[in-house]
Formats: sequence, C-alpha cells, structure tokens
Amino acid sequence: MSDGIQNVLVIGAGTMGAGIAEVAAKAGCSVRLFDVSAEVLEAGKARIERSLAKAVEKGKLGADAAEATRARITYAGEYGDVAGLDLVVEAVPEKMELKKQIFSELSAGNPTCILASNTSSLSLTEIAAACQDPSRVLGMHFFNPPPVMPLLEIVEAEQTAPEITARVRAFAARIDKSPIVVRDMPGFATSRLGIILGMEAIRMLEQGVASAADIDSAMELGYRHPMGPLKLTDLVGLDVRLAIAEHLTRELGPQFTPPPLLRMLVRAGKLGAKTGEGFYKWVDGKAVPKK
Ligand code: CAA
Repeated sequence: MSDGIQNVLVIGAGTMGAGIAEVAAKAGCSVRLFDVSAEVLEAGKARIERSLAKAVEKGKLGADAAEATRARITYAGEYGDVAGLDLVVEAVPEKMELKKQIFSELSAGNPTCILASNTSSLSLTEIAAACQDPSRVLGMHFFNPPPVMPLLEIVEAEQTAPEITARVRAFAARIDKSPIVVRDMPGFATSRLGIILGMEAIRMLEQGVASAADIDSAMELGYRHPMGPLKLTDLVGLDVRLAIAEHLTRELGPQFTPPPLLRMLVRAGKLGAKTGEGFYKWVDGKAVPKK
C-alpha cells in the first residue's frame, strides 16, 4: 500500500530527532525539523551533516543523494504550516505533560495527519487521549543511531486505527526499517529488556564485580552484543535511561530501580557521550576507559 506520507514535521532536534529527520529525508520526504532552542537546532543540523558525510564515506549513500537529502530538510524554530503535514514525529524529552500539550495542539491544527511519538516507554494511550482524534496516534520508536539501526518499534495505543498502523508499516519499508508491532505496555518490547540489562550492569560496577570496560567486553565478546550495556548507556544518555528506569519502576516494579551510581552521575552532569563523560570518557567520539 502507499503510505501517503510526503510532508513530515519532526519535533525536537536532539540525537533522535535529528536522526529521524535524516532518515525521512533520505527516503524522499520533505522534512521540517523543529526545536524551541536555536542551539539544539544548530547542533542537530551539524549532527545530520556529520552523519551524511559518514554515510558517503562508508559508501552507504552517493554524494548526489546526500545533497538531495540535505536539500529536503528545513530547520525551524516554529511549527509553521501544520495543515499540510502527513506525519509528525515527536522526539522531545520524556515528559508526559509536554507530549500531551504538543499532541493536543497538533491534532487540533490538522485533522488527518499521523501523530507519532518516539517515546521509549510512556503510554501512547494516555498521549492519544489528549487529542481530538486519538485514532491517528501511535508510537514510532527509533533506535540510536537512527540512520544505522534497522528496527522500528510501532506501538499501538488502545485508540490507534488499524489503517494508521498499516500506513506506518508501509512507511517503515520506505525508510528501510524492519517494523515490529507491540501493544502499549510500559517499556514495550525493547526498553523493558534493555533497561534491565543496563541497570544490572551498573549494579555490577557498583559492587566491584569488574571494571566498566570488562563488564562491556563480557557482553560484546561473550554474547556478541555490538556494544556493552555501559557503553550503550553512555551512547543513549544517562539522563534518558534514568528517566525510563524511574518510569518502569513506577509502572512495572522494583526490578527496574535505578542504582545510586546512575543518579549520582546524572546529578554530576555526566550524561555520557553527549557531555564527554559517563561510564567512560569520550574523546573524538570514542569511549576511553576511566582510571
Ligand atoms: N549512515 C548510514 N550508515 C552508517 C552511518 C551513517 N551515518 N554510519 C555508519 N553506518 C553504517 C556503516 O557503514 C556500517 O555498516 P556495515 O555494517 O554494513 O559496514 C554500520 O553502520 C556500522 O558503522 P561503523 O562501522 O561506523 O560503527 P560500528 O561498527 O562501531 O558500530 C554502532 C556503531 C552501530 C553504534 C554499534 O556499536 C551498535 O550497533 N551499537 C549498539 C547500538 C544500540 O544498541 N542502540 C540502541 C540503543 S537503545 C535506543 O536507542 C532506544 C531508546 O529508547 C533509548
């Protein structure tokens, strides 16, 4: 089926929003990338530039296609015309009230477009309930880095219309992602498992079981994970993982309780790769074990 998606608005120009904008533009969509912060928008643009350059360098994209992708993305400090949009993907911080406000505003401004959230764990059913037409709301959960990771986790709210899921499945094929469809349960299919591994690895570090690098090597070499759980936490952002763990603890139980070490690092502003330090130091995009 044709997904009917041409004009896309991505809300939030952080790591995920910028990556999602790049992926949609590569597939031929006209993409507006919005952020309230001019600084975040600028950083998002630089991230897309770096990623397109790397894709060309790695032979994943021709130079002409990279140029065409660049030309399809505009950067905006306002939503602009929402009436002409076919798809909105929201990728703002994991704050339910903020998401509800964004969705309610957009659903009032456009009666037909698909309204998707990139949330890692929050309830799509609750977000949809804030909308005039909740049947157009669903989760489109991308993975970091979005241009590389092949999965798209489609999360159906209680209210999502089957036709909306079908169109997003078709869109997934167009953007070269493999979709899975999951029910709106906290943590979906991915975060629920990923967070358990991440939190346990931090507890092991606290207990002195091994160094961060050796805990990661255990999973990389022993289980063939492309990246160990502590390095991955640095990549995703310690603040992001803490917010998800706190939410899952409230919703599902104490097995998700974030360890004190995670809270302490977040309080210290050591949020991982994006701030230059988390469980590792990050130098020129590479993780360096801490002494
Ligand atoms: N565009 C397109 N392709 C690119 C690219 C780009 N900008 N950059 C790299 N690639 C391609 C490379 O060509 C390469 O492809 P091949 O395997 O076909 O050669 C592949 O991507 C890997 O790239 P690199 O060789 O440069 O990098 P790497 O081998 O060191 O892998 C990594 C880097 C992909 C990040 C890998 O370490 C990995 O998969 N890590 C785990 C990531 C992960 O688990 N992410 C999920 C996090 S959880 C999340 O995001 C959800 C949430 O809710 C918080």
